[in-house]
Amino acid sequence: MSATLPPGPKGPRALHTLGWVTRPGPYAARLRRRFGDTFTLRIANEADWVMVSHPDAVRQVFTGDPSVLHAGEGNAVLKPLLGPRSVLLLDGADHMSERKAMLPAFHGERMQAYGDLIAQIARHEVASWPAEELAIRPRMQALTLEVIMRAVFGVRDERLRRHVASLLDWTTDPARLLLVILAGPQRVGPLFQRVRTPVDDLLTREIARRREAPDLEERDDILSMLLAHSGMDDATLRDELITLLVAGHETTATALAWALERLARHPTAWERLRSGDEDYLDAVVKETLRLRPVIPIVLRLLKAPMEVAGYELPAGVAVAPNILLMHTRADVYPEPRAFRPERFLEQPAGTYTWIPFGGGVRRCLGASFALFEMKAVLREIAAGIETLRPDRAGSERVTRRAVTLVPARGARVIVAPRTAPARRAQPVPTGR
Ligand code: HEM
Repeated sequence: MSATLPPGPKGPRALHTLGWVTRPGPYAARLRRRFGDTFTLRIANEADWVMVSHPDAVRQVFTGDPSVLHAGEGNAVLKPLLGPRSVLLLDGADHMSERKAMLPAFHGERMQAYGDLIAQIARHEVASWPAEELAIRPRMQALTLEVIMRAVFGVRDERLRRHVASLLDWTTDPARLLLVILAGPQRVGPLFQRVRTPVDDLLTREIARRREAPDLEERDDILSMLLAHSGMDDATLRDELITLLVAGHETTATALAWALERLARHPTAWERLRSGDEDYLDAVVKETLRLRPVIPIVLRLLKAPMEVAGYELPAGVAVAPNILLMHTRADVYPEPRAFRPERFLEQPAGTYTWIPFGGGVRRCLGASFALFEMKAVLREIAAGIETLRPDRAGSERVTRRAVTLVPARGARVIVAPRTAPARRAQPVPTGR
């Protein structure tokens, strides 16, 4: 069977795992130079991964039969934390029906409802920045947590936020994640349960309150929309709300941190952004997610043999569209290592060549939310900050933090805020 797998590096699995975990970008680039667009990586304790990075192969995977290409199975370790009904863990018909129930809450036009809320939270955050060096990533984590709590739950509840923040730590803190992997799902279950229970209790109360709310139909937070229209029971609702927080918080914060890390080193791009050019803002967001994708690959476990990129792959292997490699193809993106937002003014982002959110029936449910939030936050930063400089000349190294690729030093920049009274902090409104 393995004779049909594409070529790949020889030697112990531990070595490949180390290369992939510690330096995914350079390691995958080296393997592409050696083996071409399609190669096999043997990762410890995992099915063999067949990495693909040609647009035709990625199209095949993203448009392939979802009953053959499973994505949920690979996330099973998160089950005690996300809950068994999480859309991230499901496959086949169960996944499709759950996804369908959630999709309406994420339609593009729904995002407008969050515009003012995000702008206010971002303005408040920017107004608190000191006129000195600061690390952007922790700031963006606080900001995106506030946004997602308000947009998803529609509440400002300090106790819920504290419990949610400690639950989120288990998915983002590398030391804890390593513990989870080493301990294995059996031992981790009760531990995750302890973190999850207080969040469940508070959510159960909030759901009961919300079911009775006279303005339920008019509310635009995601919990209210799912309550009013999806027909989900309480347990499913809780699992999906937590899934949205886990999937949407760290990812968006990291993408925003990268945007500022790049802009601080590209003064012309920063100035053009500050001119208020909305098309350019969109291009900056797309170029950031191209050059510094937050997630390096997506995985599909084959449940039946499938032909991909000219290889007859057996069931049991995982096919992995490699986002890092796709986004650095010189035939799609000339001068692929350059940060050049203009490229997205000259050519649209391709469905199978710009893939920071994955694709097909598993494409990120929160993609429009994330893009909308990134733009709203960058708009406020551009309006509230006069100068943005890097703390030192060289680019920040890309490093892995659990499953995301983050700036090694947290995106350290030096800012000088504008001081005009119009831009001073306004209180973040209370209520929803
Ligand atoms: C810049 C920010 C984000 C990035 C880079 C990102 C990236 C991704 C990627 C790569 C996937 C897997 C797609 C695949 O397998 O093809 C995914 C799935 C998902 N994301 Fe995001 N995401 C972001 C923000 C968000 C936000 C804000 C939310 C929710 C509010 C969210 C909710 C989800 C969900 C629910 C899934 C699972 C979809 C499914 O399995 O059907 N994400 N995301």
